[in-house]
Amino acid sequence: MSIIIDTDAVTAALPERIKRFPFPYSSESYRYSANVEPSRKVVMTEAGEWGGRLLDIDEHYLSDVKERGEVLDRDPSRIQVLPHMRPAVWDAIATLLPAMAEENPDSMSFHREGNNCRWWNGLQDLEVEFTIGDDSSLQGGPLRFLGSQIQDDMVFLDQREDALWLDAGLVTFAADWSLGFDTGMKFHEIHGPVPRVLEEKIVSRAEQFLLRLQPGEQYRRTNWTLTIDRRLDTSTETYPNWAPERGTIADDPALPDRVHLRVEVQHLIRLPHSGAILFLVRTYLLSLADIARVPVWREIVGRVLAELPEDMAEYKGISRYRKAASDWLLAT
Ligand code: HEM
Repeated sequence: MSIIIDTDAVTAALPERIKRFPFPYSSESYRYSANVEPSRKVVMTEAGEWGGRLLDIDEHYLSDVKERGEVLDRDPSRIQVLPHMRPAVWDAIATLLPAMAEENPDSMSFHREGNNCRWWNGLQDLEVEFTIGDDSSLQGGPLRFLGSQIQDDMVFLDQREDALWLDAGLVTFAADWSLGFDTGMKFHEIHGPVPRVLEEKIVSRAEQFLLRLQPGEQYRRTNWTLTIDRRLDTSTETYPNWAPERGTIADDPALPDRVHLRVEVQHLIRLPHSGAILFLVRTYLLSLADIARVPVWREIVGRVLAELPEDMAEYKGISRYRKAASDWLLAT
């Protein structure tokens, strides 16, 4: 039997969460870049493939949207809509729901006549009618409703004075930042805490790219960090709930099951009517134990963590345990 057949057999036996995981590295070292590519391009990995859809639905769909609802009940500041962004939110509804129905014709449908819309979501046993532009036609308001249908977080950027401003969003699964704090800020200011990116002109290049995005165009990029446990809500607001564990996890024998590679697939879309930019952030978490089931991934993640410059590790909040994680991955 050839090695290729062996590899295929091992890959075929892997669970979906591994096969569909958006593995983010293309080499054994990682640096920031303005890494954008067209959306919906399928990417083959050592374990399977990802990226064929704009709005990915996976085994966590119902539990993720339920958790989002609970976070919003506890902390309404995770939704922000400055008044001039209301049309952009409706624009997102009229863009994303049809896209999701097209990608899932067996379980979803979207019909629109004028401003009257009907949305059916069989996965939630839900059928609703609403009117574009009428906030009272969707319970909880349009943005909260949209956030109950997709797993992605959403950020809306307004374009004015030749710059981009974060003026609305629904973010319940932030990787160590705060929507409430960032609302009203410019793209440049938002990236102020990130090391290297301003000096290396990555932020200005990214902003120039976004300023020129045409209506309907869709691109994407990935970003990554590490998170302890399958914890989606690592916002600044809940810092005391999750941050202290970063100091003790290195000595925890359960480290391979508890430390997760957290990958964000971020879509960048110019909404067709409002002209706003919609930034979708879809978060995937895969434990190091799962990563290690794909030998090439084990090696690459181990080396990336070992090689990452200290300022980047510090910013990502992983400096106290990345060596333990890397040592475990590279031990066999
Ligand atoms: C091509 C476009 C973009 C590039 C190249 C880019 C680059 C980056 C990088 C390198 C980081 C650090 C991530 C890490 O080490 O974990 C970051 C963080 C962040 N980015 Fe972006 N980004 C882009 C688009 C956006 C957009 C559209 C938004 C929405 C306003 C955004 C909001 C943020 C936020 C909130 C953070 C966390 C900042 C903090 O720590 O307070 N980014 N970005």
